[in-house]
Amino acid sequence: MSLTIGAVVLAAGEGKRLKLKVPKPLAPCLDKKLVDFPIKELTKFFTQNNIVGKITAVIGHEREVVRPYIESHHPEVAFAVQEKQLGTADALRAYFNSASATKEFQYTLVICADTPVVSAQELTAMLKLLQEENLDGVAASCIEKNPTGYGRILNAQTGFHIVEEKDATNEIRLITEVNSGLYLLKSSYVLEHLKNVDSKNKSGEFYLTDVFKDGLNVKALCFPDSNIFLGVNTLKQLEEAEKALRTRKKTELREQGVRFIDSSHTYIDSEVEMGEGTVVYPNTFITGQSKIGKNVVIEMGAQITNSIVEDNARVLAYTVLEGAHLRSKAVAGPFARLRPGADIGPEAKIGNFVEIKKSVLERGVKVSHLSYVGDALIGEETNIGCGFITCNYDGVNKHVTKIGKNCFIGSDSQVVAPLEIGDDCFVASSTTVTNNMPAGSFAISRGKQTTKEGLAKKFLKTNEKKK
Ligand code: UD1
Ligand code: MG
Repeated sequence: MSLTIGAVVLAAGEGKRLKLKVPKPLAPCLDKKLVDFPIKELTKFFTQNNIVGKITAVIGHEREVVRPYIESHHPEVAFAVQEKQLGTADALRAYFNSASATKEFQYTLVICADTPVVSAQELTAMLKLLQEENLDGVAASCIEKNPTGYGRILNAQTGFHIVEEKDATNEIRLITEVNSGLYLLKSSYVLEHLKNVDSKNKSGEFYLTDVFKDGLNVKALCFPDSNIFLGVNTLKQLEEAEKALRTRKKTELREQGVRFIDSSHTYIDSEVEMGEGTVVYPNTFITGQSKIGKNVVIEMGAQITNSIVEDNARVLAYTVLEGAHLRSKAVAGPFARLRPGADIGPEAKIGNFVEIKKSVLERGVKVSHLSYVGDALIGEETNIGCGFITCNYDGVNKHVTKIGKNCFIGSDSQVVAPLEIGDDCFVASSTTVTNNMPAGSFAISRGKQTTKEGLAKKFLKTNEKKK
């Protein structure tokens, strides 16, 4: 029979120390919010261990914004409301009072919304210990060089207890084994001990940590890496947690064969995928749901958000991709900007100072210099010269430009959309194309050149200056 676990995400606190205008669970963390991380890892933990589980978020402070966010991003999550933030034990009481089913789960897992680095791996290790030693409860702990602010773990012969920073003597404050705020307990145990938790401490709060006691069948499982349990209470801790999340991501990618020139200056979000043989230069941001293929080169200064880069493509220095798709062996940059809906075909080439928006460029298309392509379809092997513009906006609406395959569009030309240019057309330099062009046609619209010998001196100011 599958194991049953009721998981509780504590997200009712105010998070004053964070000094952000949003409630703490909705504080930004990489491309997500803080609360997204424990929910995602709990789901993974349930699946990996074949657990029948239910996640409940305890909400309170600013629940009118916290609840809609969680509802829309994690519809599977249930809610318990903690009216007043009287402490973590009170939050858990609110959870057990929210639905009778909460008491039926074999185990209760408690995780804070403000510890985003905790992963399914740690949860699995706790479950393993609990089952192997048939314990009543496990708290995850770690060694913190600077333990200020955390609850300290005081181990006994059997069992242990936790003393919060505010209540600790100077001697206890020297203890570096700290409580992570992550607990896995038998539901029957926590229900029994929760009854006796009082608020007789310096904060006047009901501490959940008080359910752990010396002499009882509980253990602290000490993890070697303290970064895992970084609690985000201040902006500095938020920065450290984001750094830890990115470091873990880069380690995973490196193990899959991604080479970083200097990973300490490479910023990669947790959901990004990257293939073997890909090389990433420093000062690059690869964020959101981006998917990068194999043997891709991402040069210095590139910023890639929610984009797909296929195998063997190259993103050259200082190029920005947002909601774009760079197909295999295509090249973009240096200094190119691919905006949402830019779909760059295989082996296509987008050069410097080129902006592409909502346009499909088929195989082998070249737009090598200083151009704007918006709302366009460009056929295979067409070459677009320097300084080309799709005039796609009439001040009210956007219009589409279609250019066929194997065309040559001369430099400094514009097409005034809506417009269609057939296959194999030639547009001479400096032409403003305003009418459709049938396949195989030629268009030129520039003024005729007049040359007057000797007249240049009238206009050249150089001689005057010398006088
Ligand atoms: C808590 C632990 C501490 C541990 C630390 C790890 C207690 C008493 N202390 O302290 O031992 O070292 O986490 O990061 O548990 N919350 C509610 N309702 C409340 C109070 C808090 O839901 O009434 C939530 C908060 O939103 C937060 C979590 O519980 O997600 C922890 O609260 P916080 O105030 O951050 O506790 P810490 O002081 O960090
Ligand atoms: Mg905290």
